[in-house]
Amino acid sequence: MSAFKEISVNEIKDNPFKLIGTDWGLVAAKDGEKCNMMTVSWGGVGIMWNKPVAFTFIRPQRYSFGLLENEEYFTISFFDENYRKALSFCGSKSGRDYDKAKETGLTPLYDEKAPYFKEARLVLVCRKMYAQFLNEESVVDADTVLKNYDNDYHKMYISEIVKVLKNED
Ligand SMILES: Cc1cc2nc3c(=O)[nH]c(=O)nc-3n(C[C@H](O)[C@H](O)[C@H](O)COP(=O)(O)O)c2cc1C
Repeated sequence: MSAFKEISVNEIKDNPFKLIGTDWGLVAAKDGEKCNMMTVSWGGVGIMWNKPVAFTFIRPQRYSFGLLENEEYFTISFFDENYRKALSFCGSKSGRDYDKAKETGLTPLYDEKAPYFKEARLVLVCRKMYAQFLNEESVVDADTVLKNYDNDYHKMYISEIVKVLKNED
């Protein structure tokens, strides 16, 4: 029996600033028969085109970038503090070099449209709706923005949150 229960976005109790910025999320997508995941701490959740959405920002040099480009669905999983080490690993090592599930001990589950993790406390299943690279021409606050880039602008994905899973364990 799965410990995950589907809830509505309105039932999410977490503060999104803490959830994304402090707790960090794990973006996961299918990689053939397996999966890869990377840590994210920039982004947001909200409403766009009358739908609940997640905003994610992925640099093109990430291995996950190619996976996200190919896949229609991905997930963002959130964990309690015990998994900080696993998230640090997934945020510093590449799927090009490691099977991150094997290395971290996280258990991928494949019963949704994109992989997620048995150990997660909260999961957003996301369906891409819009993707666009940030670009220099659009920068307004150069002091804040440009220092983050060396010609590697993030691609922004606006994705419908099609399902929210809460771990009841
Ligand atoms: C706390 C934290 C937050 C991160 N947030 C992002 C992010 O929002 N976007 C991004 O492109 N990379 C981010 N990264 C970097 C990627 O997680 C990292 O480069 C990762 O190793 C990429 O894995 P991959 O090559 O398997 O895709 C973050 C790293 C950490 C540690």
